[in-house]
Amino acid sequence: MSDTITLDIDAPDDWHVHLRDDEMLDAVAPFTAEAFRHALIMPNLVPPVTSTALAVAYRDRILAAAGPNARADFTPMMALYLNDQLETADLLAGATDGVVFGAKFYPAGATTNSAAGGTSLLDYRGTLEAMAGAGIPLLVHAESTDPEVDIFDREAVFIEQQMVPVIEQIPELRVTVEHISTRAGLEIVRDHPQVGGSITPHHLTCDRSDLLANGMRPELYCKPVINSREERIAIATAATSGDRSFFFGTDSAPHPLSKKEAATVAAGIFNAPYALEVVAELFHEWGALDKLEAFVSHHGVDHYGLERAATKVRLTRRPDCEGDPAQSVCTAGGAEVRIFGADAARRWTWEPIR
Ligand code: NCD
Ligand code: ZN
Repeated sequence: MSDTITLDIDAPDDWHVHLRDDEMLDAVAPFTAEAFRHALIMPNLVPPVTSTALAVAYRDRILAAAGPNARADFTPMMALYLNDQLETADLLAGATDGVVFGAKFYPAGATTNSAAGGTSLLDYRGTLEAMAGAGIPLLVHAESTDPEVDIFDREAVFIEQQMVPVIEQIPELRVTVEHISTRAGLEIVRDHPQVGGSITPHHLTCDRSDLLANGMRPELYCKPVINSREERIAIATAATSGDRSFFFGTDSAPHPLSKKEAATVAAGIFNAPYALEVVAELFHEWGALDKLEAFVSHHGVDHYGLERAATKVRLTRRPDCEGDPAQSVCTAGGAEVRIFGADAARRWTWEPIR
């Protein structure tokens, strides 16, 4: 019989999260604000966050929605949406003012709310060179939108066609491959010291058989789509290895049930409430709990050149499953959002150490 495990780690960060707006923001922001010190906020609102002024207003709305149990040091890190509307001078000024943290590139049409995205990363060469000069990181949704490329190969094709040229032509640019879903994503990170990779709870713990084999499960549908078992094992191997280039980003992306159980299912998994629990259980299964703190609390801040946390969080794993964690949350208007990872929350709990 196993014993209760207690683990104190530096306060963790979420380096990729969608908080939405309005009633959905109010419903989901408290989970992120309670659990994470930094949260890198994705800008794919409708219309997208393309200017410093929009980012300031959105950050204020996030802080207003963070709730009474938010961490005192909860900090939304704002990314601007890299498209034709973005003005390089405004991005640089926003970064100088400490408001703008990075710029996010979405290939147009690749995922939820990406209609305003770009066609090719190198179209923004001038902006990317200015970002490199100013130390502003580029965050990339690395997925080809070429209809002739199989959905499970789209990360590899995008990386080869669009990321390799940018990384080689602008080597001073700090880049993050977001939500790595295949070995192609792991390899480009390993091959370039200036490139980091965020890894999600669901790409660590699920593969496409979970999505498709026993009744299609729309709650596991996300972009980049969950890939094969071999890819998942490679991702979990990288995350648990202690390699400093890989760090935690939930890609928590809430959608109401009406969009998740429909003829055409919206991409996105809402995992913020149990994200730490899920990743802790995965590291436990892999015998790698000694590497958890580095993955969730150190590698990201190190990649982005920030200070490590001065406060800690205590994680506890019970030997027996207990309780009945909530499976969904509701917005004020009554829209239900399914939560990923309740099983891990039967074992794990966490609390800030004050
Ligand atoms: C995200 C969303 O819903 O905004 N969806 C997803 O499947 N991950 C967008 C994204 O990050 O691709
Ligand atoms: Zn995302």
